[in-house]
Amino acid sequence: MGASTSDDAGVYRIDRNRALVQTVDFFTPIVDDPFVYGQIAGANALSDVYAMGGRPLTAMNLMGIPTDVVPPKMINAIFRGGASKLKEAKCVLVGGHTIRNPEPVYGMAVTGLVSPRRLITNANAKPGDLLVLTKPLGTGVITTGIKRGLVSSGTIKKAIRCMCHLNAVGATLAERGLVCAGTDVTGFGLLGHLGSLCRASSVGAEIQAGQLPCISNEVKELIVNDCIPGGSRENLKTAAEFVEWSNAMDWQKVLLADAQTSGGLLLCVAPRHLNKVLKILKEARALCAVVIGQIVRSPKGKIRVQR
Ligand code: CO
Ligand code: CO
Ligand code: CO
Repeated sequence: MGASTSDDAGVYRIDRNRALVQTVDFFTPIVDDPFVYGQIAGANALSDVYAMGGRPLTAMNLMGIPTDVVPPKMINAIFRGGASKLKEAKCVLVGGHTIRNPEPVYGMAVTGLVSPRRLITNANAKPGDLLVLTKPLGTGVITTGIKRGLVSSGTIKKAIRCMCHLNAVGATLAERGLVCAGTDVTGFGLLGHLGSLCRASSVGAEIQAGQLPCISNEVKELIVNDCIPGGSRENLKTAAEFVEWSNAMDWQKVLLADAQTSGGLLLCVAPRHLNKVLKILKEARALCAVVIGQIVRSPKGKIRVQR
């Protein structure tokens, strides 16, 4: 599997029972604390393996850093943050590469394993599947708000907890045969990633915007006060091509397009599996487990959003 279905990672079959899952992800700092930045970058890089139903095996660090400005202590803290997430994921760090760069960037290339019969992909969604989201939305709006000094410490804590959380439950659900279509929600926002999934599966979707979970009540307030990152605005423009807004409110549209960092899994769940899936999500301490809509017939991949 390559880029044709816009999946979260590349998949290469080794034999009947095993396939490699390969992905790479990095970004500029989104929080001040270097250790937390490392944790978020680690959780985010690992997520694309989990979003394919795989388990991460090995990882390599990628860093670009202005060594004349950032002290070695801080650089170490970033690496330690990333390593702490690898440890939690039982994934082994096998190397990496650092260059000097005017702006800090950090992330990882991660390799995992998956059974070719137990993959979660964009192309397997079926009409009638329920859409389950495992993390609340709003990291894009909140991190922009942090830069502008508009966010309370309570909300900052919640957003950090959310971005640091591993999406490992994706592998558990895939291994039990409960989910075979889905993705994680990251830079293209919920609608962007759902749009790719719908196109790859030749289906459409209906979203109940009122069901969308937010990291905090401040998210709506921030959006209403025009605290919206550029990436999320771009996502909203792109979404106009495949979304029917119906009676959705303006702030809900922004929330659905908000660029997430280390966001949750968006899973397509057959109704007969829903209770089991919700139970496993609860046991895995998923940050939320909410049905936000469903997959419908629509060969052109239209998404309808209702208030
Ligand atoms: Co992804
Ligand atoms: Co990615
Ligand atoms: Co080298």
